[in-house]
Amino acid sequence: MKTKILVTGGAGFIGSEFLRQALGKSYKAIVVDKLTYAGDLERLKEIDGKYRFYKIDICDKAKIDSIFKKERPEAVIHFAAETHVDRSIKDAFSFIETNIKGTFILLDASRKYKVKKFIHISTDEVYGDIEKGRFSENSALKPNSPYAASKAAADLLLKAYIRTYSFPGIIVRPSNNYGPWQYPEKLIPLAVSQVLRNKKIPVYAKGKNIREWLYVQDCAKAIIKVLEKGRIGEIYNIGSNQERQNIAVVKDILKILGKKENLIQFVKDRPGHDIRYRLSSGKITKETGWRPSVNFEQGLKYTLNWCKEHKEWLLTRNLR
Ligand SMILES: NC(=O)c1ccc[n+]([C@@H]2O[C@H](COP(=O)([O-])OP(=O)(O)OC[C@H]3O[C@@H](n4cnc5c(N)ncnc54)[C@H](O)[C@@H]3O)[C@@H](O)[C@H]2O)c1
Repeated sequence: MKTKILVTGGAGFIGSEFLRQALGKSYKAIVVDKLTYAGDLERLKEIDGKYRFYKIDICDKAKIDSIFKKERPEAVIHFAAETHVDRSIKDAFSFIETNIKGTFILLDASRKYKVKKFIHISTDEVYGDIEKGRFSENSALKPNSPYAASKAAADLLLKAYIRTYSFPGIIVRPSNNYGPWQYPEKLIPLAVSQVLRNKKIPVYAKGKNIREWLYVQDCAKAIIKVLEKGRIGEIYNIGSNQERQNIAVVKDILKILGKKENLIQFVKDRPGHDIRYRLSSGKITKETGWRPSVNFEQGLKYTLNWCKEHKEWLLTRNLR
C-alpha cells in the first residue's frame, strides 16, 4: 500500500523536485498550491496524471479543511511559502499571511484529521548570519529579513504544537538551493537569464556574501529520508558543505557560458543583508544516512545546461 501524502507548494521549485522523486517511491500525492507567480505546473509535466491537484490558498481555512476531510492524508510535507527575501523587504504582507497564518491553518487541519507526520520546510535563514563556524539545530533563532522572520515564526508555532499537543511535527532547515526550474529572481537563474539576454547581472555590494549551495535533487532526497526515518519533534539541518561567495558564483557562471566579467554590475546592498550562512548537518547524516552527492561545480554545470535547454521558460519568467 502506498502512503498518501499531501504536499503544499508542489508546483514550486523544491516541491516539484520532491514530488518527482517521491512518486517514484512508495507514495501517492495530493498537491495543494495557490499557483502564485512562483508556482508553475510546467514543472510537473513529467509526472502529469500521477498526482491529484488542488489550486487552493493555504490561508483558506474552509477549503483546507474540506481537502483534509476528503483526502485524509497520512503525512503532510509543507513547502508552500512566499520565498524571495527582496520581495519581503518591499512588502511583507503576503509573507506574514502565507508563511505564518497559512502554516497555522495547515497545523490545525493536520491535528484535527490526525495526520501521522508533518514535515515543515523551514530555512537556514531563521538562524540569521554567522561570520565564522556553523549553526547547529540548537542555535538560537535570530532572523534578519521579514522573510526569515516569517519562517522562524512558523517554526516556533510548530514547536509549540509539538509540545502542547504532542503533534507529530518535524522541522527541516535546508541551505540555499539551486538547480533546474528555479524561478529567475534567485541569484543563479537570474544571472544565467541575464546573460542569455545579453544584459548585466546585478550583484549586491561587492558580492562578498556567502551562501551554502545545495543542489535541489539532494535537498529533495534529504526530505524523503526525513519522511522515512526522521524522529518526531526533531529539527534537521540540510546543508551541502559547499560555501561560495556570490561573486564567485557569478564569475563561475560567466566562465562556463564563455562571457566576460564586464557583464557584472555591482548594485546598492540589500538592507540587512546576511553576510554568511553555514549549517552543521551531521545530525541528518547520522540519523538517516543522507549526505549530499552533487558538488557545486557539477551542480552548476547541470543547472546551466538545463537553463540553456529551457531558455524560453527561463526568459519568459525573468521580469527585469
Ligand atoms: N529555495 C531555497 O533556496 C530554499 C532554501 C531553504 C528553504 N526553502 C523553503 O523551501 C520551501 C520551498 O521553496 P521554493 O524555493 O521551492 O519556493 P518557490 O517560491 O519556488 O515555490 C513556492 C510554492 O508555494 C506556492 N504558494 C505560495 N503561497 C501559497 C499559498 N498561500 N497557498 C498555496 N500555495 C502557495 C507557490 O505557488 C509555489 O508553487 C519554502 O518553504 C522555502 O521557505 C527554500
